[in-house]
Amino acid sequence: MAGKGLVVDAEYLKEIEKARRDLRALISNKNCAPIMLRLAWHDAGTYDAKTKTGGPNGSIRNEQEYRHAANNGLKIAIDLCEEVKAKHPRITYADLYQLAGVVAVEVTGGPTIDFVPGRKDSNESPNEGRLPDAKQGSSHLRDVFYRMGLSDKDIVALSGGHTLGKAHPERSGFEEKPWTKDPLKFDNSYFVELLKGDDAGLLKLPTDKALVEDPKFRYYVELYAKDEEAFFKDYAESHKKLSELGFKPPLSCLKLSSKNAALLAQSAVGVAVAATVVILSYFYEVNRKFK
Ligand code: HEM
Repeated sequence: MAGKGLVVDAEYLKEIEKARRDLRALISNKNCAPIMLRLAWHDAGTYDAKTKTGGPNGSIRNEQEYRHAANNGLKIAIDLCEEVKAKHPRITYADLYQLAGVVAVEVTGGPTIDFVPGRKDSNESPNEGRLPDAKQGSSHLRDVFYRMGLSDKDIVALSGGHTLGKAHPERSGFEEKPWTKDPLKFDNSYFVELLKGDDAGLLKLPTDKALVEDPKFRYYVELYAKDEEAFFKDYAESHKKLSELGFKPPLSCLKLSSKNAALLAQSAVGVAVAATVVILSYFYEVNRKFK
């Protein structure tokens, strides 16, 4: 069941900024950006748009869910996040895991991703089998990502997350290999390597290969391989979408964002000036009549 009563007030926003700094330090010291990004994606990637279940709600912390085969190894990332949670207990697990994903991309040189806090935690985990199976092809990828409400462009852009990290045989059964030559740097080299084929000796899952074989996917692979700026822009948008599946930012949060606060202040001043003008002109009129 979704947790109740999360209020995103000024204090909460302050804690988020402190947690962001703690995550930056933790992720750079431990070189754990890849597994943190995988954690954020696996918490969010269970979303089902039809039933509005799953999604970025912290439920991956439940033993029942982190024991799903697709989540092998992610207990490491859950425990690392616990250090930050202990220092900032008000922050929900759902926000914390998504913030960790955003920071992981940022500290490895990727694009800045807009982060809006206010996700609620859930104690209910979806049944096993909602995350993609790396041994399948493009129609399976579409089934899984369309279920979340995401598009072909999102599938390819988000797959670029494999610019970080590597496979671990004891976790996924795939050979221990990274997708790129520098698996701690977030750039567009995943797409460059994908187009080179198998010869480079780097990792290519069947689902990665599906992206070059399917013409609609391939269009984006080619675009992102030659234009890193286009990849960063689309990745930041798709990652934000993934991190907000089924999430509506609370009103308190909208009001408190600095841009909106400035707008609100501006309009308050505007209203005060207008009211003063009306009152003064009224008195002027009254004065004039009685002269
Ligand atoms: C498109 C479907 C996807 C499939 C089938 C898939 C599958 C996999 C597999 C099998 C691994 C190896 C796990 C291990 O042995 O440690 C892995 C790792 C990883 N995945 Fe994905 N993935 C997909 C999409 C994504 C997305 C959308 C992201 C992020 C935006 C992502 C981020 C990562 C990262 C960063 C790692 C490396 C983890 C580490 O080094 O510990 N993946 N993925």
